[in-house]
Amino acid sequence: MAMELGELYRLGVRMGMENDPRPRDEIESELHRVAKRYDALKGKERERFDKDGLWNPYPDSRLLYGDEGREVNGILWGIDIGTGEIVLADRLREKGRKIDLVMGHHPRGRARNTFADALQLLSYMMEEEGVPGNVAEGVMAPRIREVHNSTITENNEQCVDAARLLDMPLMCLHSCTDVLVQRYIENLMAEKEPKRVEDVIEALLDIPEIDHMAKLSNPPEVRTGEKGRKAGKIMVKMSGGTAGPKDMYEKLADAGVGTFICMHMPEAHLEEARKHHINVVISGHMGSDSLGINLLADEVEARGVEVIPCSGLVRVRRK
Ligand SMILES: [Fe+2]
Ligand SMILES: [Fe+2]
Repeated sequence: MAMELGELYRLGVRMGMENDPRPRDEIESELHRVAKRYDALKGKERERFDKDGLWNPYPDSRLLYGDEGREVNGILWGIDIGTGEIVLADRLREKGRKIDLVMGHHPRGRARNTFADALQLLSYMMEEEGVPGNVAEGVMAPRIREVHNSTITENNEQCVDAARLLDMPLMCLHSCTDVLVQRYIENLMAEKEPKRVEDVIEALLDIPEIDHMAKLSNPPEVRTGEKGRKAGKIMVKMSGGTAGPKDMYEKLADAGVGTFICMHMPEAHLEEARKHHINVVISGHMGSDSLGINLLADEVEARGVEVIPCSGLVRVRRK
């Protein structure tokens, strides 16, 4: 058994949509807005339009090189893909491993150029916590601009060029698998109902990928607040692109959030969270990203495709 490249791409996007924090009609209305923008375009502008956006609501998840009809029997799957991983895949193929695709998590190529748009999801997540929509969008707008300004100046085609030279298909699925982590940890917290911050940490350590990273001296950490403090209302932020804006924490505290769980947070943001008495728990970046990838990789392996982990992916099978 094998899968076609396009089938695999669509499976990732479909699983994301099925587990997205937004309800289906919200996603459909977003796709409809993209379609309306496309319909209004003419000539060169219409040609340049990224048509995957008509059905794929994740701007940071794209098939970057390879025809959709190509057969996939084995995948070299990692969290960060660079030219090194593309060459590694080619070396392993030379040594007899079946690898027809390199899959990454953090966006590369055109998916990195539109990465900032993936932060829109965080506006919706803030709204869900009780922040008014206009405030959430207002707080997010400058942060989205900041991320955009930084990502578009990078050399995002570097590893796509390597993939093309070695004729090695390349894809990255970012928010599609981060929403799987989001759903998984939200369900876990709903089930365990942690009372104190230390109970949040214990619950996170029940996840094998996070436990694995803890054994490598990278455990979940309390970054603001204390282990013994009351957890209060918990907000899980595993999707939404990257760290949100600094002034988000004041709005979240006003909306009643007591504990904020995320994969990573810059120091300047911690200061803001501390000011507003929000407990911040870091779940660990690689362990958490691995969890989302694994939930999809299990489905891919069930279809007869071998997954070879690399570049920080802690592979755990649940099937
Ligand atoms: Fe991620
Ligand atoms: Fe990540």
